[in-house]
Amino acid sequence: MNGPHSDALVFFGATGDLAYKKIFPALQAMIKRGTLDTPIIGVAKAGWNLDQVRARARESVERHGGLDRDAFDRMSRLLGYVDGDYQDAATFQELRKQLGSAVRPAYYLAIPPALFELVTEQLGKSGCSAGARVIVEKPFGTDLASARELNRILLGTFPESGVFRIDHYLGKTPVRNLLYFRFANLFPDSLWNRSNVESIQITMAEDFGVQGRGAFYDRTGTIRDVIQNHIFQILSNLAMEPPVRVDSESVRDEKVKVLKAIAPIDEKNLVRGQFRGYQNEAGVTAGSQTETFAALKLEINSWRWQGVPFYIRAGKQMPVTCTEILVRLRRPPNVYGSGDVSANHFRFRISPDVAIALGMMVLSPATNNGEPAEMVANHHPEANEMDAYERVLSDAIAGDTTLFAREDYVEEAWRIVDPVLRANTPVYEYEPGAWGPAEASQSIAPAGGWHVPGLTPSAPAEDARRAA
Ligand code: BG6
Repeated sequence: MNGPHSDALVFFGATGDLAYKKIFPALQAMIKRGTLDTPIIGVAKAGWNLDQVRARARESVERHGGLDRDAFDRMSRLLGYVDGDYQDAATFQELRKQLGSAVRPAYYLAIPPALFELVTEQLGKSGCSAGARVIVEKPFGTDLASARELNRILLGTFPESGVFRIDHYLGKTPVRNLLYFRFANLFPDSLWNRSNVESIQITMAEDFGVQGRGAFYDRTGTIRDVIQNHIFQILSNLAMEPPVRVDSESVRDEKVKVLKAIAPIDEKNLVRGQFRGYQNEAGVTAGSQTETFAALKLEINSWRWQGVPFYIRAGKQMPVTCTEILVRLRRPPNVYGSGDVSANHFRFRISPDVAIALGMMVLSPATNNGEPAEMVANHHPEANEMDAYERVLSDAIAGDTTLFAREDYVEEAWRIVDPVLRANTPVYEYEPGAWGPAEASQSIAPAGGWHVPGLTPSAPAEDARRAA
């Protein structure tokens, strides 16, 4: 459900990295698609002028996605810039002046979380916050207490319906498609429960390290960086009940219920790892105990899912870059007596390409024995598709909160990981290019083993090449 369209977009952190890599390209794409034609005002403290910001925007789109001359020219004309200190009331007076007749601006805080409080307060004091919405980047807090504090700060100035907490995974079509697949088809539902599902695995593997973000990553670690947010969003889409309506609150109500049914993770169900060489990365403290890999098991204590283990595994310096889900069904009875009857499955690949596969047994004409096969629906993203940032920004401007994390959801997600963030469990070293430390598969061992993304029964040769 959409609220009124914002009539100006202001983004703090206009000269920063996020603006350069994601925001300018998304803005150009929105202008090209016709979903943005309001003034866009960048704010930063860089000692720059508007021409310098325009030059930076041009370089940004050239590097990330490509320049579209017409859309870029329109973006340049819509662009304004306020250079100033966030401490200084004059910065916000100038902003108010540049906003002119805008009465429903959207403020995007693409700045370090330490500045959220200051900027929010200044927006309130300067009168800029009236009728406005605020878009906040992750990480949303670093634990339950800090997330609550951040919510308190934001909700002191903006109503919950005006707060848009970004998790770009929610903007990814294959993540949204998990819900669509479940609720726009008849056949998944009869299998989607504890009677038929043996386990669910979610793996998010990245074959690179911390990419120059050592200082950020060392304060963060895998659980905070991708599990508490991106992977829990995937989990919620996999596990939630059908919403009674598809408006944002009905959908978000169901997601929160999933998290409410999850107990805090027990430290014996978690293995943390760190790739060898991590401690030599710039910004990483010597002797760091931050995890670059985590494997864990949790359970959703609901009517639908009680007793079904959910396994999560995420890490840097893995053998492949791939996010994949495996819903493993219970074994059917084996009336054939001999030969293998393996469990059927659903497999969802979220990235780098997109696939939904149904794993089954078929009779091989060559051997007259059963063998596993997959029916695969593949999709290779095309150039004009909306990327996740364009989608979430367009929705925020249109006032649609469906793809944003609600206050209660964020706090529930932190509640689940909070104890293990403090537990100081051991961090085992692993070789770059391995699937984490050996301890991960020893102590957290799904029946049938961890699913290896990129190695599927239907196309082993092709996928093995991709994995290599
Ligand atoms: C970010 C994390 O939120 O998500 C990164 O900070 C991670 O560490 C990234 O690499 C993954 O996003 P995507 O869209 O590339 O899968």
